[in-house]
Amino acid sequence: MSRQYLVAGNWKMFGNMASNQVLVEGMCAGLDAVPKVQVLVCPPATYLTAIQQAARGSGLLLGAQNLAAQEKEGAFTGEILGSMLKDVGCSHVIVGHSERRALFGDTDAVVAQKVHAALAAGLVPILCVGETLAEREADATEAVIARQIDAVLAVNPVASLAALVIAYEPVWAIGTGKTASPEQAQNVHAFIRARIAAVDAKLGDSLRILYGGSVKPDNAASIFAQTDVDGGLIGGASLKAADFLAICAAAQSQG
Ligand code: PGA
Repeated sequence: MSRQYLVAGNWKMFGNMASNQVLVEGMCAGLDAVPKVQVLVCPPATYLTAIQQAARGSGLLLGAQNLAAQEKEGAFTGEILGSMLKDVGCSHVIVGHSERRALFGDTDAVVAQKVHAALAAGLVPILCVGETLAEREADATEAVIARQIDAVLAVNPVASLAALVIAYEPVWAIGTGKTASPEQAQNVHAFIRARIAAVDAKLGDSLRILYGGSVKPDNAASIFAQTDVDGGLIGGASLKAADFLAICAAAQSQG
């Protein structure tokens, strides 16, 4: 089946009101050239409302970088509920990014709960999975990704996952300038699709799988051309409108 490409910008903890304004205006100015592509930005949560207003009417989608595992309001200082993200205009949320897994205690179980919370709030979860360099060198890539996916399937009935997006982000490729080769990406993406298809063939077919890890304008097209790659999760290159739009154009030009 043909799946719509999604290109998502993960701004991480960068930017301010003034720089965001310039960035969003730059992106919105180029969206008409990429009508086939869903384009999403995930800024720091403090800026969601301002960006929602700056992008109004442009078609630029808004997402968050994280959400609380809880599903109801409560005494959870510092946390942000999925429904609050929805309330300020988010359609998507990144869940289980490797930086959250490595630095902020997002275990497989927490990530699975956050996927549940995102779906309960009506948000599209972008579930990040990926192996470290040591895991790849130990030939454990598939085992790690299977474990990360199976944890999510254990608490989320497959019937609830129609909206799910998975992002394959090899940890060794994030922010390092080292990209997985198109073949390496395709192999893991095919593995992910097969893992989901084994529990639900239709979902396996429709599932969008993004690649993330040092995607740049000059390597995006070769990665996006792979059969099981349906877009990208873009960190560093999403902080420059021209680079991000060039990556969106690489998605637009696919078959
Ligand atoms: P990068 O980040 O494009 O800067 O490697 C990707 C990500 O962390 O989502």
